[in-house]
Amino acid sequence: MSRPLRLGVNIDHVATIRNARGGDHPDPVRAAEIVAQCGGDGITAHLREDRRHIRDEDLARIQAATNLPLNLEMAATEEMLAIALRHMPHAACIVPERREERTTEGGLDAAGQHNRLYPLVQRLGEAGIRVSLFIAPEERQIEAALRLGAPVVELHTGEYAHAVGEAAAEAERARIAAMAALAAREGIEPHAGHGLTYDNVGPIAAIAELAELNIGHYLIGEAIFCGLEASVLRMRRLMDAARA
Ligand code: PXP
Repeated sequence: MSRPLRLGVNIDHVATIRNARGGDHPDPVRAAEIVAQCGGDGITAHLREDRRHIRDEDLARIQAATNLPLNLEMAATEEMLAIALRHMPHAACIVPERREERTTEGGLDAAGQHNRLYPLVQRLGEAGIRVSLFIAPEERQIEAALRLGAPVVELHTGEYAHAVGEAAAEAERARIAAMAALAAREGIEPHAGHGLTYDNVGPIAAIAELAELNIGHYLIGEAIFCGLEASVLRMRRLMDAARA
C-alpha cells in the first residue's frame, strides 16, 4: 500500500469572484470551512503582489476559521517574507510571479537564483515554516532545491495538463514520476499541482512518491455547478482510486 496522498485545496478563485464586485461575497473563508468539513487536508492560498484574489486580511481569517494547515504561495520578495513571518503559515510555497501572467505559468528557477533564494529559504525554515519550491520537473531544479535546503518541492504539472495527445501527456507524466522519485531519494518531499482536473488527476495521483496535490481552479469552477463539497469529494475519490 502506498502512502496517503493529501489534497490541498487552493481557494484563490473564490476570492477572484468576490473581488469582481468589490464586496465580501463569496468569502474564501467559507470555502476553507467547507474544505475542512469535507475532508480536505489543507488550504492553499496565493497572496499575489497585485492582490488580485487573496488579500492580506484574508490570511488571518482563513487561519482562524479552520485547523487545516495553510500553504501560503508567495513570490520570493522581502514583502512576502515579512508577511509569511507575521502569519506563520504551516508551509510557504515559493512561486515565480510576473504581474502580467494570468496564473503561475512556469516553475521557479531555483537553479539560476540560488543566491537570491538561499536567505529567504533559510529565514522561513528557521521560523519553522515548511518551505516548498514550485519547480519544473527537472533534475537540475531538484538538485538546486537540495542545495537550498528546501524540505519540499512542488512539481509543476502544467505541461502535463496542457499536453496535446496521449503520448505527450504520458511523456510528461513519466518525467514527473521520475523527478518525484529523485526528490524522495534525496530526502525531499515531492508535491505536485497546476491544471489538474477530474480527467487528468489519476495518472499523477498514482505516482507513489507524491505526498500532496494542490488543486484550485478546476475545483472552484466545478463547485459552481455541483457545490464545493461535491467537487472536493469527487476529486478525493479519484485520487484514492488512483492510489488503490
Ligand atoms: N500549486 C501552485 C504552486 C500554484 O501556483 C497553483 C496555481 O495557483 C496551483 C498549485 C493550483 O493550480 P490550479 O489552480 O490550476 O489547480
